[in-house]
Amino acid sequence: MFLLTSLKSQTKVAAWRVVVRTLKVAVVGAGGGIGQPLSLLLRRCPGIDELALHDLTEMKGIAADLSHVSQTGNVVGFTGEQELEPAVSGADVVVVAAGMPRLPGMQRDHLMAANGNVAVKVATAVSNASPGALLAFITNPVNMIVPTAAEVLRAHGTFDPRRLFGITTLDVVRSKKFIGDSMNISPDEVNIPVIGGHAGITILPLISQCQPRYRRDLQEIQKLTNRIQEAGTEVVNAKAGKGSATLSMAYAAATFVDSLLRAIGGQEELVECAFVASELTDAPFFASPLNLGKDGIKRYMPLPQMSDYEKEALEKLLPILRQNADEGVNFARTFLSGQSRAPVPAALPLTTN
Ligand code: LMR
Repeated sequence: MFLLTSLKSQTKVAAWRVVVRTLKVAVVGAGGGIGQPLSLLLRRCPGIDELALHDLTEMKGIAADLSHVSQTGNVVGFTGEQELEPAVSGADVVVVAAGMPRLPGMQRDHLMAANGNVAVKVATAVSNASPGALLAFITNPVNMIVPTAAEVLRAHGTFDPRRLFGITTLDVVRSKKFIGDSMNISPDEVNIPVIGGHAGITILPLISQCQPRYRRDLQEIQKLTNRIQEAGTEVVNAKAGKGSATLSMAYAAATFVDSLLRAIGGQEELVECAFVASELTDAPFFASPLNLGKDGIKRYMPLPQMSDYEKEALEKLLPILRQNADEGVNFARTFLSGQSRAPVPAALPLTTN
């Protein structure tokens, strides 16, 4: 039995290696609560030839530790702001977990003052050292961080809307888990699009489109929608001052990065929801199902059908996303205009979540 299983898995790995070229993935904020488990999970993704781990703190130990995992590929540690560009240099995928987490009572928006500079610095480094990379942010507030990064990339002439993502996979992961449990089926069997953004009511799980059908009355659907929207806060409160979701976020981000890598490797028909520059609604950045390809977004799937309840919820969230985008863009512009007059202030840390 063991032999059979192990032969089967070797065949699977061998078949996958035929189509995958070797890839470099950089994790920024790799020493933190999300970055470490994310980096560990990424060691299981086939085809990663170099896993570059960056943080402000010394990364040698974590890199050495992860390099002993019996998988192919090298793990290299990079430390400090001066090593950010070498870390992302030539990367196919850059995933960013750096930043401060929420404390009880905070909204994700409150993190912009602390985390906005992460978007600026990483987008600058990517523009300089790996302009062709797929760049994916976990850092909150995602609804503002992605527009900030887009503006910085634009200023450097390297913005390609197909290559910039805010990771919203945790909203999908939570929806699958809560619905799976409620229907008494495996979460793996649940398929559900989650659109909008990644904060409070901007998170809109389209329960009407859930497969298999989630047959409940409106009151229960509203209750479940609310739980998904507030699930991050549920973890923040449970951690009682010690941060926000790290392990489930790492799981979700690794799932998303794995899909990006598979798409780069030529796997077709991959669809993931993510927060991206979009023309599907009148919000300039919007999360929706995307068909992924080797250059990032291959095709924006049309907006899924919606119930009346979901249509109303969409109307309520769009003005918030528009305002978040304006704030993100303004943050970048303020930073960039300051930069043209004076050197980058040293007091803007690239913090660790
Ligand atoms: C989450 O959804 O768990 C993350 O965005 C972290 C947070 O602050 O809620």
